[in-house]
Amino acid sequence: MNLTPWLGCIRPDCRRAYEISDILYRCPACGDLLEIQYRGQVENVESWKETFRLRRSSNYFPDRSGVWRFREMLPFCSADEPHLVTMEEGNTPVLEAPRSARYCGLARLRIKHLGWNPTGSFKDYGMTVAVSQARKLGATSAACASTGNTSASMAAYCARAGMKAVVFIPEGQIAYGKLSQSLDYGARTIQILGDFDVAMALVEEVSRDLGLYLVNSINPFRLEGQKTILYELMDQLGWNPPDCIVVPGGNLGNSSSLGKALQEMKEWGFLQKVPRLLIVQAEGANPLYRTWSADRAQLEEVPHARTLATAIKIGRPVSWQKAIRALQFSGGDCQQVSETEIADAKSVLGQDGIGCEPASATTVAGLRKLRSHGGRGHHDFSLSPEEDVVAILTGHQLKDPDYTVRYYTDILYESSTQKVEWENCSAKINPAFLNRPVQVKADKREIARILGGC
Ligand code: F0G
Repeated sequence: MNLTPWLGCIRPDCRRAYEISDILYRCPACGDLLEIQYRGQVENVESWKETFRLRRSSNYFPDRSGVWRFREMLPFCSADEPHLVTMEEGNTPVLEAPRSARYCGLARLRIKHLGWNPTGSFKDYGMTVAVSQARKLGATSAACASTGNTSASMAAYCARAGMKAVVFIPEGQIAYGKLSQSLDYGARTIQILGDFDVAMALVEEVSRDLGLYLVNSINPFRLEGQKTILYELMDQLGWNPPDCIVVPGGNLGNSSSLGKALQEMKEWGFLQKVPRLLIVQAEGANPLYRTWSADRAQLEEVPHARTLATAIKIGRPVSWQKAIRALQFSGGDCQQVSETEIADAKSVLGQDGIGCEPASATTVAGLRKLRSHGGRGHHDFSLSPEEDVVAILTGHQLKDPDYTVRYYTDILYESSTQKVEWENCSAKINPAFLNRPVQVKADKREIARILGGC
């Protein structure tokens, strides 16, 4: 039997159901978030797994996408429909990271690098689905608030779809690599004088008023697309789940989506064991950490969140309830890490030949911190050195080269205002791994002297 999708409210005492073709982001009855739910069961799990694997060698265009290869699991959208917008997204590698493993105090660490996507971040897994769905529903324009990656991805997919893209970004608070992408892909880019949380609240209202299709992670179709991150990972691991999967947490769409994927894969018989989800936040932008570690029923918001990992500089995450559900279901935990811990962890990943943007390095920083505390987290969570861990890196190194160069040249400050140049810097980070470029006269002997004859 196939899976039949419908839209359902996540609130336990509401649970109203809506048509899959309704353009809704929140429940009209109670205002809570919606999610796509499924009736039915997957009858032949092994044959689905085999089909997914065989499609890796196919040249049919949806098969070449690391998202649409799993289309039976996205049954609201058929792969040969004309509205499909794909750029062969996904297909990202699982890499061994031995130096990072040692740094974390683990026997082994594998990295799933989602930065190897068409626009350089994990957002493409969800965006191909959200923009395809937008087209199917007849939308001609889409909008999002973003710390830079969602907007880059939306702008690219809208350009491919011939749709208008409207991007809301916090002024001066997104990395230039990301801003340049939105501009290149022709998005109408609106810099809000405020942070991401302000932009997010505004975009919901403006989209409703102007009839723009909203593709933030509040959009349930986008989260369905992001579930394929784990389908792809499991396919790559021969459906042998690791013990623990680590992700950075910002607006918490991704952790929610991965949690939903785990829950459904277990329910439908794809997995015998559920990996524990570890979500890592920056100390200055840690609303989930505060809420989870203190076992609060309401979100502990962080007004004016701060971190140099601008991708996750978010104090009021939209999907926090779904993320808590993911932690509860998987027996997971949430950790927080300092700016120095993030910066050094990024450098250690670099020593494995694996670059990433700062937000992604929270994963390695969080693992190291957890292991340095004997592996014990909150709510009975623990991680031993022999356990099989996969860290999910979410964004490409070249999204934010400014941060990296500042780190290696010892001028990275925790606090600054960033216009074109950094201003009003304070609280310098002391890097564990300096690597300054050296200025040399254009002279062979001088170069040999500096290189010590090597
Ligand atoms: N890592 C990167 C590189 C991101 O861009 C984001 C979020 C996250 C992690 C956190 O994921 O929000 O699902 O918890 N970026 C969003 C954006 C907010 O607008 O690009 P999350």
